[in-house]
Amino acid sequence: MEYRIVKMEACHLEEVHNAELECFPEEAWSFKDFDDLLKIDAVKGYILVDSEKNGEIVAYMMAYEVVDEAELINIAVLPKHRRKKLGNYFLNSWLKHLQEIETVAVFLDVRESNTPAIGFYKSFGFELLGIRRNYYSDGEDALVMKLDLESTE
Ligand SMILES: CC(C)(COP(=O)(O)OP(=O)(O)OC[C@H]1O[C@@H](n2cnc3c(N)ncnc32)[C@H](O)[C@@H]1OP(=O)(O)O)[C@@H](O)C(=O)NCCC(=O)NCCS
Repeated sequence: MEYRIVKMEACHLEEVHNAELECFPEEAWSFKDFDDLLKIDAVKGYILVDSEKNGEIVAYMMAYEVVDEAELINIAVLPKHRRKKLGNYFLNSWLKHLQEIETVAVFLDVRESNTPAIGFYKSFGFELLGIRRNYYSDGEDALVMKLDLESTE
């Protein structure tokens, strides 16, 4: 198996949106949500593709990279590819890139019921910073998590 990380471009959005429908069937973002986000300068998108399967998308993520801070907007691994350390490889590669551009802190929000994602983020050292009450449209709280990054120099 050979995987590659590719910068997300407008031409990838249809496939990314199909992946989103599979990963978040109940609350998928629209194609326009992705399109609007990707047009923001500070927003970077990345996809993890399987080189052996014609560049099929295995995972995707979007994030704000602003001066020395970053915010992970979303990350998802397609259901059939989970628990194979691909999310770990993908997020780890992004964190290394952030260290290279001298980012000092990474923030994210996660549903308090999303045990897999919380376990995933904790495995990188993300810590609970606070709780945003009623953050999601269904009233669920969000956990705000933070990771301090050390410079690679
Ligand atoms: C969270 C997510 C990205 C993890 O991706 P993954 O490729 O399955 O994760 P990995 O195989 O790299 O796991 C790395 C570590 O994360 C933790 N982890 C991953 N899935 C977990 C789960 N279901 N329960 C508890 N811990 C989990 C474990 O510590 C794991 O290490 P281990 O396998 O040695 O125990 C994936 O479950 C996903 O796409 N979920 C749906 C989308 C989502 O909720 N995204 C986050 C909110 S935007």
